[in-house]
Amino acid sequence: MIESIRVSAESVVGTTLREHVLICMRAAPGATGAFTSLLNHISLAIRIVNTRVRAAGLAGMLGYTGETNVQGEEVQKLDAYANDVLVNVLGRSGHCGILASEELEQVKFSEASGKYVVLFDPLDGSSNIDTNVSIGTIFAILRRQQGELVPSLQDALQRGKEIVAAGYAIYGPQTEFVLATSQSVDAFTLDPNIGEFFLSRPNIRCPQRGSCYSVNEGNFSRWSPGVQKWNSLMKSENKEKNLPYGHRYVGSLVADAHRTLIKGGVFAYPADSKSPKGKLRLLYEANPMAFIFERAGGAATTGTERVLDVIPRELHQRTPLILGSQEDVATYCEIARG
Ligand code: AHG
Ligand code: MN
Ligand code: MN
Repeated sequence: MIESIRVSAESVVGTTLREHVLICMRAAPGATGAFTSLLNHISLAIRIVNTRVRAAGLAGMLGYTGETNVQGEEVQKLDAYANDVLVNVLGRSGHCGILASEELEQVKFSEASGKYVVLFDPLDGSSNIDTNVSIGTIFAILRRQQGELVPSLQDALQRGKEIVAAGYAIYGPQTEFVLATSQSVDAFTLDPNIGEFFLSRPNIRCPQRGSCYSVNEGNFSRWSPGVQKWNSLMKSENKEKNLPYGHRYVGSLVADAHRTLIKGGVFAYPADSKSPKGKLRLLYEANPMAFIFERAGGAATTGTERVLDVIPRELHQRTPLILGSQEDVATYCEIARG
């Protein structure tokens, strides 16, 4: 019966995120509905943040709060707002046992009985907020460690391979919600008039190879010789290898990653002499993106190992991140090794 309603409804109304998550739940043996409810709460938080992002210039939400976060970065008003929304909504879900945020120095214990861990970057691309460039929110969901009675930091410090679902919202010309589960990677577009996300890109697959590389060229002098060699290869003339590649760099991970996921190619934020461990954070930037790319048939490496295998030692640890098409990531590793 559901199938027939869904099919006839699809011909008139698209599949909503809520329905998609419900269908995933029905496909998951032993599902209790907790994960579904948690995802719906994350969708609610993202819709609230989206509304504020869209009117940030009018709501006095541009600029800095005057504080610096644990990363030593100036906190934008929108960073703090998005963080407050996610902490509040996740707390009310009843299914989040523990959460970690780029904007919180320590983990935050939420619902003691909550089965899940949520790690998030509430507002990614902060440096682009005041210039109206695409920004986003990134999250990863893991299960709390089996058998542990109370949530602990160790629940958050699990390897990315333990992620059960990950996603991001990109607040761009349209607001898109990309969700990766064990079954697939799908994108949903927000209809602002209805306030619902509708399926817009089912079963996203990252092309095996692309024609674009994405890196902050301003760091060239700080890179290792291997990374410099890779960068020069991307810009060299070689018809057989379809070189030179085009170059795109937005400076918001969600925007650069989203383009790479859809069109293929490679995004790189290597370690450099200024950020010897890399700039991007493992738990709530690199791991969620790595999970998404691998689920879509892409790849994600630190340059020397698979991102999802990295053992987290501390909450805000940084890592080099190379994301993208299998073949383009392999070329990076072959040339740059680091
Ligand atoms: P955040 O705004 O959450 O701190 O993240 C910013 C990150 C990421 O979005 C982007 O890929 C990178 O910083 C850009 O760094 P550079 O400005 O050094 O290129
Ligand atoms: Mn970020
Ligand atoms: Mn951020």
